[in-house]
Amino acid sequence: MADTESLLDEALQAIEEAADERSLDDLRVLYLGKKGSFTELLKGLGKLAPEDRPAAGESINLAKKQLQGAIEKRKLTLVAAALDAKLGAEKIDVTLPGRRQSAGGLHPITITTERIKKIFMAAGYDVAEGPEIEDEYHNFEALNIPEHHPARAMHDTFYVSPGTVLRTHTSPVQVHVMESGEAPFRMICPGRVYRCDSDLTHTPMFHQVEGLLIDENVSMADLKGTVVEFLRAFFEEDMPVRFRPSYFPFTEPSAEVDMGCVSCGGKGCRICSHTGWLEVMGCGMVHPRVLEMSGVDTNKYSGFAFGMGIERLAMLRYNVSDLRLYFENDVRFLRQFN
Ligand code: DAH
Repeated sequence: MADTESLLDEALQAIEEAADERSLDDLRVLYLGKKGSFTELLKGLGKLAPEDRPAAGESINLAKKQLQGAIEKRKLTLVAAALDAKLGAEKIDVTLPGRRQSAGGLHPITITTERIKKIFMAAGYDVAEGPEIEDEYHNFEALNIPEHHPARAMHDTFYVSPGTVLRTHTSPVQVHVMESGEAPFRMICPGRVYRCDSDLTHTPMFHQVEGLLIDENVSMADLKGTVVEFLRAFFEEDMPVRFRPSYFPFTEPSAEVDMGCVSCGGKGCRICSHTGWLEVMGCGMVHPRVLEMSGVDTNKYSGFAFGMGIERLAMLRYNVSDLRLYFENDVRFLRQFN
């Protein structure tokens, strides 16, 4: 009985100290298993005097029950502790921001086109559209560029079929607008244009925006004011703007517009070829012949027109030096405009 008692004390102590379920189970086998210490004690009962056996047997069985109870209790404690540890390690922080679905964005050329539209719409301009497949009459003749005119050769035209071209500029939309409506007109027309030309600074397809204003008493001063205000609004800078005499068959007089380089502030840099100036658009007073051909009364009306490249404006605004980036559609480039 003394053996039983000291063995029980030892076992209870070990059970209380068991660190996990596994070592607890090892203890169960050690004390209560087939070859466990208490099983051995029971087997040894036969060596006792017969009158001592019942009392010894009873105390061994009691000790076994007590052990079993202690093991169960310890097991519950260990399971609860293991669960606590697991929950602690796996805890979810519900205040963390969720994983967002990444949304696509507009292409920089679309963003730039929208920006141009917004500025002109605020000044009362309509936004017009015209066909990209155009007849030679609208693309050339109606703009005072007759056949064999040298300006035709400068356009690197894609022919769809004899007499039909991919428009080489957005100027033919002027003609459609004047043909199908009544003066006064105040419109811009952004869109795709095509030229058989491809190198570092030219792509076979690019975008232009055309502007047309026809009304009574429109002068070159109105054109200058409009262009200067537009450029300053677009670039959000009060840079100088100058008009250089130029030639376009559909305007007279014609001018090319330069603005102070937005990159170097006019000091001269690689972007402005060290001139301090950037050429940004062509413009002029619409040639009376163009007005007449489209049925506008030149005794009453006059007007101005302008045309510019959208990629060029976007490159200057976003400081992009390679035109091709706008057409390769590498998401690493596009993502920066999101
Ligand atoms: N159509 C010309 C081009 O493609 C640009 C242009 C110049 C448009 C002068 C105009 C203008 O309306 O007045 O190069």
